Amino acid sequence: MVNLSLNMRNEQVGRGLDWHTPTSLPALEAGQAHVWRVRLEAWREQGDLRAILTEDEIARAQRLRIPEKRADFVTARAALRTVLASYIGLTPRQVELAYLPDGKPQLADPLMAARLQFNLSHSGEWMLLALSRGLPLGVDIERIHPLRAQGWALAQLFNRAEREVLNTVPQAYREAAFIAAWTLKEAVGKADGRGIRAQADTTDLLQAWFSQDEAQPYRYGKLAGYSIAQFNPAPGYCAALALAAVQPVQLRFLNLEKARIETV
Ligand SMILES: CC(C)(COP(=O)(O)OP(=O)(O)OC[C@H]1O[C@@H](n2cnc3c(N)ncnc32)[C@H](O)[C@@H]1OP(=O)(O)O)[C@@H](O)C(=O)NCCC(=O)NCCS
Repeated sequence: MVNLSLNMRNEQVGRGLDWHTPTSLPALEAGQAHVWRVRLEAWREQGDLRAILTEDEIARAQRLRIPEKRADFVTARAALRTVLASYIGLTPRQVELAYLPDGKPQLADPLMAARLQFNLSHSGEWMLLALSRGLPLGVDIERIHPLRAQGWALAQLFNRAEREVLNTVPQAYREAAFIAAWTLKEAVGKADGRGIRAQADTTDLLQAWFSQDEAQPYRYGKLAGYSIAQFNPAPGYCAALALAAVQPVQLRFLNLEKARIETV
């Protein structure tokens, strides 16, 4: 039986995170990862962001039937292009992207892709964009919401050992724990590029984390050969970042504000 402790209160994880709003682009060194947090709504208010997108991306946006999904895609893509452009010294529209077989985007130029890895995720009003120097990575953010089909979801998404750990969580925190655990699987799958098909087994990690006592800005551990951090990027949201790194990676948490992008 897992010793359930303070740290089961998932909202504690991330409370001490220091989100810095830089006025210029911070240097991204080897052994570091930058995690940018973007409030989609604030970005949308800047005007028509489609001017930043390529024709392919505008066509893809038009194929999304749900207006909110379409708006989120356009906003996330504009933010992605703006940030990548800053790191590589191009304009947002000049950034060329390519896709791995299961859809993972990366920089089209293989040399650039080897030097600057990125991954993004959006949920509700937030987007996270993570970057590293050459370390494949995956990020996932999920809004903590009532799990209407909880029984089905637990059965489908987690193996028996994982379910046993999750089922020991007090009811009040179970949805948050479930969604936090889900972000771990997604982050590893996205680092790997196969998405949810990668199916990392989170049992050991969940057991280790859920038996820790102290609240901390983020949890850090190993999962399926990846270094993984889990945190709450905003009230009501869980997130995880997986990096193909053997050594611990220094994480910097950064706010992306549209008004400041031009100076970045
Ligand atoms: C891709 C996947 C990880 C997305 O997860 P999600 O929680 O729905 O969405 P998120 O917001 O976290 O991530 C979406 C972003 O991840 C990136 N992404 C897409 N496919 C990816 C992959 N295989 N690996 C890593 N990142 C991927 C994209 O940037 C995407 O953003 P965009 O649609 O605005 O370009 C999930 O759908 C999955 O595992 N799919 C399996 C692979 C698959 O079926 N691909 C479809 C091929 S047609």
